Amino acid sequence: MRKGEVEQMSKLRVGIIGTGKKKERPDRLGYAMAYSHAAAYQALDSCEIAACADIVEENARAFAEFHGVKNVYTDYHKMLAEAELDMVSICAWVPLHEAMALDVCKAGVKAIHCEKPMAFTWGGARRMVAAAKEAGIHLTFNHQRRYARPYVMAKKMVDEGAIGDLVRLECGCKDVFDSGTHFIDIFSLLNGDQPAKWVLGQFDYREENVIFGDHLENQQVVLTEYENGVFGLIMTGAGGKSPVGCMNKAIGTDGVIEMGVVDGPHFRYRLAGQKEWTVPDLQGATIHAPGLIKIAIADVVACLLEGRKCQLDAGNALIATEIIFGAYESCRRRGRVDFPLDIEDNPFAAMIASGDLKPRPKDA
Ligand SMILES: NC(=O)c1ccc[n+]([C@@H]2O[C@H](COP(=O)([O-])OP(=O)(O)OC[C@H]3O[C@@H](n4cnc5c(N)ncnc54)[C@H](O)[C@@H]3O)[C@@H](O)[C@H]2O)c1
Repeated sequence: MRKGEVEQMSKLRVGIIGTGKKKERPDRLGYAMAYSHAAAYQALDSCEIAACADIVEENARAFAEFHGVKNVYTDYHKMLAEAELDMVSICAWVPLHEAMALDVCKAGVKAIHCEKPMAFTWGGARRMVAAAKEAGIHLTFNHQRRYARPYVMAKKMVDEGAIGDLVRLECGCKDVFDSGTHFIDIFSLLNGDQPAKWVLGQFDYREENVIFGDHLENQQVVLTEYENGVFGLIMTGAGGKSPVGCMNKAIGTDGVIEMGVVDGPHFRYRLAGQKEWTVPDLQGATIHAPGLIKIAIADVVACLLEGRKCQLDAGNALIATEIIFGAYESCRRRGRVDFPLDIEDNPFAAMIASGDLKPRPKDA
């Protein structure tokens, strides 16, 4: 859509749920992602931030002042009832995503952009997608790393057959759920958003590790096979070491691409027969940059306005989410889990609640 066309339309009225508190140094008790969402909407001619809500009034007021938002709420239900919103960003912690999304689906909006990971349970993720589908709402998730240049370049090479047929995707990250959702979603990007067929995994959880209120494994190994026969191998934890040597790796019959190399470049490739890596000049582009949320939200809004499916669409996000919950379910069942995944809960949280997992407290 051209700028002139957008100027003639009324702006999309955006509401933000969960403003957070802006800190000099974000930590595992809050990144205030809402500020990045707001900056992204404010960079677009097509959007205005009409309202914001946070149960902590001080947080909501500080956010409203920072972004010049007139309508401030401590109850997001009231905001949904009064603010005549077209689009809502959900920026609260994961256990709240499902209930919030289901409420927003009933509020007559056109779109919801929700933070990752999708939901606290596999049943919750599916219910969010079903409710949005029934209400005809564009539901997207903030897997913004898909827009990072090293990943865009890798996708282009894979799609053009530069490394032959794709055989295996690998990733090395901190955990499967909170950070892993990004890197497993990159598997989907590189593999044409193919669903997976099964997953097999094992994890170790000996010391308590909680982020945004969720328990995360200390170490895990997961193998999955996609419907097109490509394998995915995920290795997390390992005491800060990376058995993969990079964040994401794509292995083909005729070459290898590495993205986010540990102590190395953010993108490099080696084709069959080559001894040395080729390291293109990315002019400073990395796999993780604050500007990615601006690019992601601009694409989400453009797709909404043009009636196109966005690559951050909930259907694509479900592919990574099924692997995540399937991997935890594989630990619970002590076996391979075939898809479609037939559980409702969060197997990791259930194993904590039942006492099957007893991590020692962090400070012990
Ligand atoms: N995309 C990324 O790269 C990325 C990075 C960090 C965090 N995240 C995700 O962003 C989400 C939010 O994390 P954060 O660190 O920004 O959180 P935060 O703690 O900074 O902000 C969340 C806010 O939600 C508010 N809140 C809680 N319950 C509420 C309710 N019922 N109604 C309204 N507000 C409510 C809290 O008071 C808090 O101010 C999480 O899902 C997290 O995993 C994504």
